[in-house]
Amino acid sequence: MTGKYEKCFADNLKSWNAVAQLHAQGSGAEFYRIEEFLQGECKLGPWELEEVGDVARKSLLHLQCHIGTDTLSWSRYGAQVTGLDFSPAAIVEAERFARLLDIDDARFVVAAVSAAETALNGEQFDIVYTGRGAICWLPDLDEWAGICAQLVRPDGILYMEETHPTLDLMEVIQIDGKQVIQPKYDPFRTEPVSEDYEGSYADRNAKTGSQTNHCWEHGFGEIINALVKHGFEIELLKERPWAFFEPWEDVFEPVIPNYWKLKDGFVPLPMSYSLRARKRC
Ligand SMILES: C[S@@+](CC[C@H](N)C(=O)[O-])C[C@H]1O[C@@H](n2cnc3c(N)ncnc32)[C@H](O)[C@@H]1O
Repeated sequence: MTGKYEKCFADNLKSWNAVAQLHAQGSGAEFYRIEEFLQGECKLGPWELEEVGDVARKSLLHLQCHIGTDTLSWSRYGAQVTGLDFSPAAIVEAERFARLLDIDDARFVVAAVSAAETALNGEQFDIVYTGRGAICWLPDLDEWAGICAQLVRPDGILYMEETHPTLDLMEVIQIDGKQVIQPKYDPFRTEPVSEDYEGSYADRNAKTGSQTNHCWEHGFGEIINALVKHGFEIELLKERPWAFFEPWEDVFEPVIPNYWKLKDGFVPLPMSYSLRARKRC
């Protein structure tokens, strides 16, 4: 996943390093519900716990774990967790949370997804978990699915809770004083969408300095074909009209902690999905 996109990865890494502390300890901590998390609140959607099932004593690898709040939420249910992310600043925060919560068997690793197998010495896991804005940072899902297949043990699962491909295509514009949601991005584009911005989804006004992000669109066909090709059986795919962040201002309202829906008056859009895939023995 390097080579052609080396500059994109370097920009993305700079941008994720710039927000890690902000999300964990700064003005983004309210969005991340850090206070509630430290008091015991789970960061995962209730269906995630149901759809993954009992994780007690199971090994769970969280790819692109960011500041570790989701990783450590799984740990609270008994999973033996490993979080992996290419941002050293994010891993510092994840390790700090593990210490604050006295979770001493959580392990965090700094590595790119493309280097995960090497960084983890070929270890395989009962569960590989990823999502909440993860695969959009990866250009090549065929390569990603191959890496996941190496990381999941035979008969183990890959579980994702991700942004719905439809939401990724949209923008909000004002027409006659009304906010209208319309398609903006080309779903068939294979090159990255590159955008400069300051701030973060956790605090739009944060002074992060100008950052450049490069993201890739991935439709369901691409995701599912890549997983099937690499030996996964899709057991479950559920689409939901709820997002785990507020993509645009003034059009969302909270539904449960960490989830938002479009306000009444908007036609519901699929905004997130969960997927469980089992690695064939
Ligand atoms: C939106 S976060 C993932 C969601 C996280 N669970 C959360 O809710 O905050 C995206 C994460 O992907 C990581 N990331 C982006 N590209 C990566 C790559 N190529 N390899 C490893 N991590 C990457 C970023 O550092 C960031 O922490």
